Amino acid sequence: MNPFKFGTIVEDDFFTDRKSESEVLKQKLDSENHIVIIGPRRFGKSSLVQKVVTEIGRPYIRIDLQYVLSVTEFAAQILKSVFKLYPYEKIKHQLSHFRIVPTISTNAVTGALDVSFQSGGGSTILLEDAIATLEKVSTEKNRLIVILDEFQEVTKIQKGFDKQLRALIQQQKGLNYILLGSQESMMEDIFEKKKSPFYHFGQIMRLQKIPYADFAEYIKKRLPKCNDNEQDCITNKILDITQCHPYYTQQLSSQVWELMNYQKITDNVVELAIEQLTNMHDLDFERLWISMNHTNREILRQIALSQNPLQNREKPTSTSFSAIKRLMRDGYIIYVDKYEIEDPFFAKWIINKEL
Ligand SMILES: Nc1ncnc2c1ncn2[C@@H]1O[C@H](COP(=O)(O)OP(=O)(O)OP(=O)(O)O)[C@@H](O)[C@H]1O
Ligand SMILES: [Mg+2]
Repeated sequence: MNPFKFGTIVEDDFFTDRKSESEVLKQKLDSENHIVIIGPRRFGKSSLVQKVVTEIGRPYIRIDLQYVLSVTEFAAQILKSVFKLYPYEKIKHQLSHFRIVPTISTNAVTGALDVSFQSGGGSTILLEDAIATLEKVSTEKNRLIVILDEFQEVTKIQKGFDKQLRALIQQQKGLNYILLGSQESMMEDIFEKKKSPFYHFGQIMRLQKIPYADFAEYIKKRLPKCNDNEQDCITNKILDITQCHPYYTQQLSSQVWELMNYQKITDNVVELAIEQLTNMHDLDFERLWISMNHTNREILRQIALSQNPLQNREKPTSTSFSAIKRLMRDGYIIYVDKYEIEDPFFAKWIINKEL
């Protein structure tokens, strides 16, 4: 089986490094504090948290705010997650405090419990009662961990939701919240702006890429057998193009592995894999490029060619800077030591079109 995996949360054999981050997270979870994790998209935030909570063995629920469209839905999801964790019979008495009685039904196919609320009640009451349930089911011996993923979406769900949520969480004891999100500028606004309800909510951890040496060892161990030099050379080429970005490194390694394993190619195998991946996304890249204005295109091209986008003599620095900020907000470029195009294959595509 292909030993590389990308696109979903990775665990066990597909997970590497993050030792110090795991330690820090564990220590923080051993306190009454809450944690905020910020990092670019697909850097491995969800995987890291999943690994840590699984290892420490405490009960946890995870809600992805990207898929929550209303406060009522959020309340329903909390209850559903709680039912997954604790036997219904054991906790049904906890529901007696609900001012709007939830309707619980069983999905005949999956056996999972579904939760809905009668309409007409206010969502504030639902939110209060749902959040209160979390504190009630958490015990001193087995403190609950509540993971709210893609937390930058909190401001989009309903006006004032962030404020209500913060006020409720603030009063709780005996459980930890982990809030993670990827649109860094939005996450920074939420947690670092004085006016934001979540200002100074918890300690902020910024997730970096996986260190070169560790990723190199991970890749080399998993590549199909060939001579040692060749393996080193392939590994280095992979990491040079992906710059240790967790997702793209796994994606490229996976493609390289397929070519080596099934087609027995080793010569220029990385170049071939890059070409395949770039071609595969040709249409998406073209659409993306067309949707960009002239300034954005110029900046993307400069970054792709490893030039400093702020040294464009034809444009005032302020124009370039605002464009870079917008491109970063939308996730097309990231800043790690220097500006980088988030997707190395898009960078490659831009360079190819330039030539
Ligand atoms: N520790 C790791 N070791 C190896 N690969 C990893 C690791 N963490 C993440 N990856 C790779 O990156 C991909 C994305 O990971 P994950 O979904 O955890 O990131 P994320 O930051 O939560 O992404 P998103 O912003 O999309 O929510 C994984 O599918 C995997 O290929
Ligand atoms: Mg994630």
